[in-house]
Amino acid sequence: MQESREQWGSKMGFLLAAIGSAVGLGNIWRFPYVVYSNGGGAFLIPYFCAIFTAGIPLLILEYGIGHKFKGSTPLSLSRVNKKFEWLGWWPIISSAIILCYYSMILSWSVKYLTLSFNKGWGQDSDTFFYNDFLKLSESPLHFGGIVWPILMGIALIWIINWFICYKGIKAGIEKASKILLPCLLIIMIIIVIRGVTLKGAEVGLNTLFTPNLEKIKDPQVWISAYGQVFFSLSIGTGIMMTYSSYLPPKTDINNSAFMTAFANCGFEFLSAIGVFAILGAMATSQGVSVDEVVTSGIGLAFIAFPKVFTIMGVWGNILGVLFFTCLMFAGITSSVSLVEAISASIIDKFGLKRKKVVTIMCLVGFLISTVFATNAGLYLLDIMDNFINNYGIVVVGLLESFVIGWVLNPNVIRDHTNAISYFKIGKWWNIIIKYITPTLLTLTLIQSLITEFK
Ligand code: PHE
Repeated sequence: MQESREQWGSKMGFLLAAIGSAVGLGNIWRFPYVVYSNGGGAFLIPYFCAIFTAGIPLLILEYGIGHKFKGSTPLSLSRVNKKFEWLGWWPIISSAIILCYYSMILSWSVKYLTLSFNKGWGQDSDTFFYNDFLKLSESPLHFGGIVWPILMGIALIWIINWFICYKGIKAGIEKASKILLPCLLIIMIIIVIRGVTLKGAEVGLNTLFTPNLEKIKDPQVWISAYGQVFFSLSIGTGIMMTYSSYLPPKTDINNSAFMTAFANCGFEFLSAIGVFAILGAMATSQGVSVDEVVTSGIGLAFIAFPKVFTIMGVWGNILGVLFFTCLMFAGITSSVSLVEAISASIIDKFGLKRKKVVTIMCLVGFLISTVFATNAGLYLLDIMDNFINNYGIVVVGLLESFVIGWVLNPNVIRDHTNAISYFKIGKWWNIIIKYITPTLLTLTLIQSLITEFK
């Protein structure tokens, strides 16, 4: 017997949960490095283009489909047309893949949070991370055994995921988002204020934002912008459709899409400013350029930052604890959303009880994630992150816009969202969904394939 569909307690609860899904590790771990390596300030041109030509229109589309057809992705799309149910399972597979490596990074954050109380990574955070913590001295293909602290962290994350989703939409996800999101914002603001008041912070910010206009001629930069916006807004993973299916009949969907995108964007800038201000201070104190201290996303969080905290005295301990708590809180609200998108699809398809599905799913998820507690974890992370960003979610975005733009008729969704929204969207949205988004995403995909096989 299928349980009757749950509902959010309030529109605010829904918004916080949706923003909680969007604001995640990608904002803190990915965004600052993506901006830095793709032209600095100049990256903002493709970034905002991606937000307005794909991010927000697809968010409205996903909210609209979920709300109108009242189901998780496979159910909603099968209600659009029976033939499209398979398309609804695709984002669920992407979510499952993201969830595996996401729980690994979250587990690292748990460990580093405990280490930051006494700066337990020692003087050489680089060697500590690769050799002592990840035990990477062996080749990834050679099984080097389970790394127990990582496995324990992964277990903890799955228990938290289970606990929140088991309690359901209102008592679980909504409540957790209402607590974690405000805390996250306050912690990030403290980090930013401390960061920008450090000596040398401006050097970091100049490095981050100085535009290298040459870069926007590079198609790879545009791919990165679309990939970042999709990943960051949790588009193409079934989450936003699932979340909006729990909304009451009358809710301002259009306004919610804009609010989600702007809140996420604001948080992205906040963390980029915090991260680069701190890196600038470190470079200045060591008399080197910021370029010499910047490493890729993972390296930033788990190598460069611990290094900074080591040389900072007691503020290093405080910032360390705040920074890793921030990563954890941001990541938990996102990983819970991934668990929910997958569980809801199974519940909708087979009419099973939430508690049963969530429990089995979390157990299976934990077992699969154990692979990430071996020396192959980092290697797999690279492959999966690349696959998901360049193909997984972009293909879903492309197919969604094709189905609604060409098979259904964008007016069906636009009329639905406009009827219940105070903020109305015009015909421009139809044009974006029908022509602009599919064209840009096809170009992005072709370019990704060319780069891959070059
Ligand atoms: N949006 C999350 C982030 O920025 C990542 C995520 C992607 C979460 C897709 C859920 C689904 O980190």
